[in-house]
Amino acid sequence: MKSIVITGANRGIGLELAKQFLADGDRVFATYRNDVGGLSDIQTNNLTVHKMDVRDSDGIQNLVDLIDGNIDVLVNNAGISDGRWQSISEIDMEHALEVIEVNSIAPLLVTQKFQNKMKSGSKLVMMSSLMGSISDCMSGKSYAYRASKTALNMFSIAMKNELESQGISILIMHPGWVETDMGGPNAPLSVEESVNGIMARINEQTLAMTGRYVQFDGTPIEW
Ligand SMILES: NC(=O)c1ccc[n+]([C@@H]2O[C@H](COP(=O)([O-])OP(=O)(O)OC[C@H]3O[C@@H](n4cnc5c(N)ncnc54)[C@H](OP(=O)(O)O)[C@@H]3O)[C@@H](O)[C@H]2O)c1
Repeated sequence: MKSIVITGANRGIGLELAKQFLADGDRVFATYRNDVGGLSDIQTNNLTVHKMDVRDSDGIQNLVDLIDGNIDVLVNNAGISDGRWQSISEIDMEHALEVIEVNSIAPLLVTQKFQNKMKSGSKLVMMSSLMGSISDCMSGKSYAYRASKTALNMFSIAMKNELESQGISILIMHPGWVETDMGGPNAPLSVEESVNGIMARINEQTLAMTGRYVQFDGTPIEW
């Protein structure tokens, strides 16, 4: 039985990841920020839920201290979108900073706190986005969200060598455009379809693959 930590698991992609890991017989430590949401409907001793804001260093440390033994997979999934500002003049700097804090800095903080619980063979999953790809940025806008995911990608690659020397592999994922609160109702992919793919990518991930940036179906993404 593997031990899995998933941030932002009360809804959307994080919740479905928790369900699929549990269905595989794994032990899941699922975090939520305010409301346990869909996690309250899951009845199994293999699931424990923990209130944790990914920006809260002490809160993350509490979870680290509470988990007995090591973890096999850490999924930095929690994220927020920006104000979908239509022009540079509309960018709200306070909100832009929050987006970068939650989407770029917080996954780094969570990883830092969990690093000693991840031994050789463990996997670190960063929930990035195609919108973090500079070469794919044709339509522009989504200023802070795009920049936050590009920064997350660079933080991940910058950590790669050090983690690789400890046997920890990093997978940088684009889940596809997914029908969640963030993705909206017009998204072409259901949460189940996306997470089926993400699970396959996590399961096949080896140390030799560390640092790859792929979408849910395994297609590589240009930086
Ligand atoms: N959906 C898509 O099409 C799509 C595409 C590309 C990438 N992604 C990425 O995939 C990940 C999951 O997205 P989703 O579509 O499932 O979004 P979602 O339905 O909006 O869920 C986001 C999750 O993140 C949590 N969260 C936000 N800020 C947090 C904080 N400060 N501390 C702890 N938890 C926090 C939310 O908790 P609350 O309920 O408390 O707000 C929620 O559980 C995100 O990183 C997103 O950027 C999604």
